[in-house]
Amino acid sequence: MTAPLRSSDPIVVNVALGERSYDIAIGRGLLATLGQRIAALRPGAKVAIVSDETVAKHHLPATVAAIAGAGLQYATVVVPPGEGSKSFPTFESVCEQLLLARIERGDLVVALGGGVIGDLAGFAAAVVRRGLDYVQVPTSLLAQVDSSVGGKTAIDSSHGKNLIGAFHQPILVVADTALLDTLAPREFRAGYAEVAKYGLLGDQAFFAWLEANWQEVFAGGPAREHAIATSCRMKAAIVGRDEREAGERALLNLGHTFGHAFEAAAGFSQRLLHGEAISLGMVLAFEFSAQRGLVSAGAAARAKRHLAAVGLPTQISAIPGGVPGIDRLMELIGQDKKVKRGKLTFILVREVGASFIAPDVDAAEVRAFLEEQLSG
Ligand SMILES: NC(=O)c1ccc[n+]([C@@H]2O[C@H](COP(=O)([O-])OP(=O)(O)OC[C@H]3O[C@@H](n4cnc5c(N)ncnc54)[C@H](O)[C@@H]3O)[C@@H](O)[C@H]2O)c1
Ligand SMILES: [Zn+2]
Repeated sequence: MTAPLRSSDPIVVNVALGERSYDIAIGRGLLATLGQRIAALRPGAKVAIVSDETVAKHHLPATVAAIAGAGLQYATVVVPPGEGSKSFPTFESVCEQLLLARIERGDLVVALGGGVIGDLAGFAAAVVRRGLDYVQVPTSLLAQVDSSVGGKTAIDSSHGKNLIGAFHQPILVVADTALLDTLAPREFRAGYAEVAKYGLLGDQAFFAWLEANWQEVFAGGPAREHAIATSCRMKAAIVGRDEREAGERALLNLGHTFGHAFEAAAGFSQRLLHGEAISLGMVLAFEFSAQRGLVSAGAAARAKRHLAAVGLPTQISAIPGGVPGIDRLMELIGQDKKVKRGKLTFILVREVGASFIAPDVDAAEVRAFLEEQLSG
């Protein structure tokens, strides 16, 4: 498990879903090839590029140049940055602008941005004219390793996040690792929590590689590509076996039940980014597993040590502004995962790199564990 030597060839990971299969191309500078790649897949298609204002400022001109350079017609749709754009008003505006730009069946939507744009533009593509093809051009680390792969698209409701959406697979993902150079360091670090998640949930050798090479991943270069490709390979394999989360795909939620409760408690704000909440959530999942004798205390400490080393939060006390009391936290956990007869489904661990779905975790045990964490 060593990083490839410097190479300008992209790494290609295939998501095998029968006739809905697609490639994820990963490499530095790949944005320049976007137009040719699209033209090869959909000759003559018109392209609507959906982005947010921040990403557009940095990367829309090069995206337009790549698409126009391949002789394709294009339109652009730019929305405000942030989770607030995963809303009905912005969604409506995106759909109307796609229609205004005369995007027809056979044309294409390009989602140029982080997970917010991928989810929003992907959902618009799923429903406008009963379904348009779309290409993901993820620009955040989180989007390159997680949200752009697997076909989940959604907007948020007042009842919760991602409650209105569709499964709609892209026809191509182009992950240009150079785009991450303009990402805020805190956003990069938060996305790295999802990279570490793949090691922790299913690949101990990858986790060991990350422990040794994470600084190079942050710095850019071939180690970054290797980390992103390894993450995508694992997600692609899991999605290929369980596209609609009937089983195994739930493993990707390691750290997410605890994490979502803290993310919601912080109001999905800049106080605690998703990846930061997931870092803390994974530490708690390991510690909870250790307390139940499922994993060694050493393995739990190892997971925590690495996340702390990269600067991610690993304890509740690290959340700025504090957290609500145990009753509210349990309520938030119950909203994320329905409590059935006092039982919750959690992703627990037996080892670094070995996780499993535990469908029958006692809510009272979770409560006692969290109370202890809150007081300690
Ligand atoms: N569909 C899925 O499977 C899936 C999986 C995980 C997360 N998500 C969703 O993803 C979203 C979070 O994604 P995110 O963390 O990428 O958030 P985001 O899209 O809001 O991006 C984070 C911030 O970074 C900025 N940004 C993005 N790329 C940049 C770049 N290259 N240079 C400069 N700034 C850049 C954005 O403008 C934004 O302000 C959430 O809505 C979450 O629900 C979806
Ligand atoms: Zn996540």
